[in-house]
Amino acid sequence: MRINKLIDSDCKDLFNLRNSKEVRKMCFNTNKIRYANHLKWFNNIINSDDVKTYTIKDYKTFVGYCRFNIINDKALINIAIDKKYYGRGIGTYFIIISCLALKKNRKIKEIIAEIKENNIGSIKAFSKAGFKTFKTDKIIKMKLK
Ligand SMILES: CC(C)(COP(=O)(O)OP(=O)(O)OC[C@H]1O[C@@H](n2cnc3c(N)ncnc32)[C@H](O)[C@@H]1OP(=O)(O)O)[C@@H](O)C(=O)NCCC(=O)NCCS
Repeated sequence: MRINKLIDSDCKDLFNLRNSKEVRKMCFNTNKIRYANHLKWFNNIINSDDVKTYTIKDYKTFVGYCRFNIINDKALINIAIDKKYYGRGIGTYFIIISCLALKKNRKIKEIIAEIKENNIGSIKAFSKAGFKTFKTDKIIKMKLK
């Protein structure tokens, strides 16, 4: 598995994963994404200073993404892995490595994850990566300092 920064040729794979039913179900906005909107969004984030995206690949096969939306010294994390790769520890590993990479490049004090309360796999992966719950409601909020 290799972790890299997002590149232009990831556009279609990123779209397919973002739009998969497993990922839409766990998002706060569950609507499907139109490709034209994805393209506009992709072109904005790829060179943005406020959004950092890492990818994980199995040789050339796109396995997942981990994205950070940065506001001052805080970052909101969002991750997804292709369902074929679930349950092998890849999500946890990818969260750990991406957070380290982000913190190496940017002055970030806190990384926050906002997770639906029924998203047990995600809550477990973030806990194993060192995140601590600080708010529980319909949305579980976890942070890494
Ligand atoms: C969240 C996600 C990245 C986890 O990826 P993963 O590679 O399966 O995670 P891991 O293999 O590291 O699993 C972590 C733990 O959660 C458990 N787990 C994973 N999916 C689970 C599920 N659906 N129900 C219960 N436990 C689950 C694993 O067994 C593991 O626990 P263990 O080490 O005690 O066995 C992946 O499920 C995903 O992409 N989900 C869709 C998108 C999403 O929900 N993103 C998060 C939004 S913040």
